[in-house]
Amino acid sequence: MKIRYKLFFSFSLYILLAVILAFFSYNELRTINTRLTSVELVDDISNIILEVRRYEKNFLLFRNEESFKEIRAYLTTLKKNIDGIKIEIVKEIGTNEYTLMKNTITEYEHHINNLANNLRSREKLTTEVEEMGILLEQNLHGKDLDSFLTLRKHEKNIMLSKDQTTYETFQSFNPLNLQGNSRIETYRGLVSKLFENYKTEKDLTDKIRSTAREMETITKNLSKKEREYIDVTLKKSGKLLLFGLLTIIILGIVINMKLSRNIAHPIKRLEGITKKIAKGDFSEMMEVKGTDEIASLEMSFNQMEKQLLDTKISLEHAIEKLSEKQAQLVETAKLATLGTFAAGVAHEINNPLAIINEKAGLMKDILEMSEDFKHKDRFLNMIDAIFKSVKRCRTITHRILGFSRKTEVSIETFDLNDMMREIAGFFEKEMLYKSIHLDLNLKENLPKVKSDKGQLQQVFLNIIKNAIDAVHDGGSIAVTTDNKDENMINVAIRDNGHGIPEKALQYIFEPFFTTKEKGKGTGLGLSITYGIIKNLGGDIHVESEVNKGTTFIVEVPVNSELTKGEIV
Ligand SMILES: Nc1ncnc2c1ncn2[C@@H]1O[C@H](COP(=O)(O)OP(=O)(O)OP(=O)(O)O)[C@@H](O)[C@H]1O
Ligand SMILES: [Mg+2]
Repeated sequence: MKIRYKLFFSFSLYILLAVILAFFSYNELRTINTRLTSVELVDDISNIILEVRRYEKNFLLFRNEESFKEIRAYLTTLKKNIDGIKIEIVKEIGTNEYTLMKNTITEYEHHINNLANNLRSREKLTTEVEEMGILLEQNLHGKDLDSFLTLRKHEKNIMLSKDQTTYETFQSFNPLNLQGNSRIETYRGLVSKLFENYKTEKDLTDKIRSTAREMETITKNLSKKEREYIDVTLKKSGKLLLFGLLTIIILGIVINMKLSRNIAHPIKRLEGITKKIAKGDFSEMMEVKGTDEIASLEMSFNQMEKQLLDTKISLEHAIEKLSEKQAQLVETAKLATLGTFAAGVAHEINNPLAIINEKAGLMKDILEMSEDFKHKDRFLNMIDAIFKSVKRCRTITHRILGFSRKTEVSIETFDLNDMMREIAGFFEKEMLYKSIHLDLNLKENLPKVKSDKGQLQQVFLNIIKNAIDAVHDGGSIAVTTDNKDENMINVAIRDNGHGIPEKALQYIFEPFFTTKEKGKGTGLGLSITYGIIKNLGGDIHVESEVNKGTTFIVEVPVNSELTKGEIV
């Protein structure tokens, strides 16, 4: 996957996680907020219930209208509060709990109202009982009055104790003298009603207390439940936050590690290898992994390194060639200077040589014309020796002048094999005389050479002449032509002559080095050959073994580096 996609996905994941965490945290906070509101509401309801209960106690104790009114007022507020609870909070509290609370309050209100009504009817009943009692007391006499007063005593006991036993005692007291008295029966009926009222009051009081307790329990439980829920939600939120933070931290570390492995590490390695390259060390390459931008950067870097290395190698090669050329140039310049110097010397020597030759001739003429005298023949022999020496000196000076004379290069295209056959032709007679066998191994279809034919002829004439001089009668010489490539032809001249001792090998290309007998060699042949071949851009090597033979290998460039008309 591409780095930019990797980065995009990593950061998107990171942001998504943070958003999810924020969403859940916000949700939890909202829940806590709603729960807190419901707790506050439930607490308010609890407080109102407490107030109701306070006035309920007063009402039950003093049975006064004020307390009842207060209870009613608080109950109205309570109902209003409960009805005003928003649906979402009702849901939070729980619809069942909410309905139960509402029903309990209605039930409580119902009981309180009943109790108030009961109290009101009791007052009436008490008055009726009292009035009927007084009326009967006034109309009864003697034993009847005594019995009735006893009954009234029981009535008073009922009013005081309001218990069942006292009522039963009242009911069971039924003296014969009062039986069948309708007024007494009415009185009894009124007392019974009063007792019933007492019973109802007791029953209602119990119901009121139990309903009130139920109301308290419901609100308490609700408040407790909500608080517990808040506590649980807070703990859950804390855990969620901790988990989210841990996940974000771990993900952050993982993303960082991945990015550092995918981006920072390769860049560090690139830096390391770049430093090595700067020091000229091309031994290390980048390891290409994957297909992302870093991988293509690594590939491009490797290509760049390879190209740099190639450039470095070709630069080194060019420098090597350049220094070779420079050395060649220096050598050529040296040769040219030496040639100029030698030509000057040769030229200067030529004039005195001519005078010596002329004077020696004059001396010879005078001597021949003059009469015989003692030592005349010796003088004539000495003059001949002068002639010989002058002749040798002339040969040397001519050769020197021939090499170092500033001639124009004449470039032409020719077949090297033809030229070798031509040269072989020059030595035909000499080789026949010495019974030397010549082998011409000339490779067919060699590229045509574009060079200075005259100078190349001189090169091979010198080498073949040396080979003829080195072999004994009946020896053999082989000339082989071959080409390594389109630009260079190799010519090998092998002989089975006396060879060159190892010590002499290093001097053979130096001017005037000769091992030939006095007067036979000038020692200039190979030095001139070397100069020419180097000038033409070629090279010359020699391999030799004493008594086995010598091989000269001449590398002839197909295209000479010299241009027509150049002066060497
Ligand atoms: N094919 C060969 N076999 C053995 N020695 C050789 C051969 N070619 C050259 N030499 C040695 O190298 C020396 C130098 O050769 P170079 O051609 O320069 O001079 P030279 O032949 O002695 O004199 P010149 O060339 O003037 O006749 C020779 O004297 C000879 O000792
Ligand atoms: Mg020679």
